[in-house]
Amino acid sequence: MHFMSQVPPYIAALRSYIPGKPIAELQRETGAARIIKLASNENPLGPSPKVKEAIGNALDDIHRYPDGGFALTRALAARYRVTPDNIVLGAGSDSLMLALVRAFVTEGGEVVASAGSFAQYYLMPQSRGAIVKTAPLKEYRYDLAAIAALVTPKTQMIFLANPNNPTGTMFTKAEWEAFYRQIPAETLIVLDEAYFEFVETNPDWPDSQKYRYDNVVTLRTFSKTYGLAGLRLGYGIGQTDPIREMKKVKLPFEPNVLALVAGEAALGDREFVDRYRSLVEEGRAVFYERLARMGVRYVPSAANFVMAVFPDQTTAETIHKGLLARGVIVRSLHAFGLPEAIRITIGLPEENVQCMDAIAALV
Ligand SMILES: Cc1ncc(COP(=O)(O)O)c(C=O)c1O
Repeated sequence: MHFMSQVPPYIAALRSYIPGKPIAELQRETGAARIIKLASNENPLGPSPKVKEAIGNALDDIHRYPDGGFALTRALAARYRVTPDNIVLGAGSDSLMLALVRAFVTEGGEVVASAGSFAQYYLMPQSRGAIVKTAPLKEYRYDLAAIAALVTPKTQMIFLANPNNPTGTMFTKAEWEAFYRQIPAETLIVLDEAYFEFVETNPDWPDSQKYRYDNVVTLRTFSKTYGLAGLRLGYGIGQTDPIREMKKVKLPFEPNVLALVAGEAALGDREFVDRYRSLVEEGRAVFYERLARMGVRYVPSAANFVMAVFPDQTTAETIHKGLLARGVIVRSLHAFGLPEAIRITIGLPEENVQCMDAIAALV
């Protein structure tokens, strides 16, 4: 028997996640000197100077294994007024999603999510042999009633992103409360709040930390607002029971030493977060104004990116390719099941203008 025949059919059927095109790759392909990447919802300001200093100071310790993130866990527990047993750290929220799937999802079990959402909600349960059921978006928003209608006694987990990637839309308090009432206590809801810092002051946004339901685990990340995507650092907040199970299956030495000190320094730099949020707000307004002037439809966003919608797939592909040829990397949403749309991360003011000028030239 060939060893490859051991690969279960549900793994063999998977396709690898394709990330946003890296700058160096487009540089190799086009030889262009100046490339801007607005494709992966990264913070264009880079990391805060305080983070860089903390990482510099920690370099002498990288021959040691991480200590499990004792200090960062305590800092997060203090911030959220919970105990360290309510917090779990991971190498990005991606890694914590996998820990949740390993702990709570079994072969043949059911997982429910929305279509047009974060790819890992489908890939990770499928890698476990689970069946993923999705409800279509409605006007590019989550249709929570349709999602709830897919839930059966076999549903082990529901993934929800709020705000959602790639649409940038959010569901409201009223929608969340009505949804939650329909979900049995046996089902675990994973509430992915990767972009919460961009909506936390919106009175309509349902902050999972104001509800703290037993069967909800919240995921948050340092990748977006704090500009630490390359270091891989995320955290989960929940009741002690699910958090304990996640800790059993996550890799013991993630996050790494540098990510841990970076996270602590980042949490302490609120000015940096405020600066970035203002940049996002201003950039979003520029995108809206320019896209509207060009007659390009966009979906109003609650996050650090905007989804632009074209009349059809061919137009979206032409725009995406035309932007690449002009040194602007945005995200094609073909793989997200939205082939008529592209997602543009808000960048530095000059990058935003360059991107909008390029779209204007193409439309
Ligand atoms: C909704 C959502 N969840 C999670 C992630 C992954 O974040 P992390 O870098 O913490 O793994 C992303 C990143 O794009 C995202 O958009």
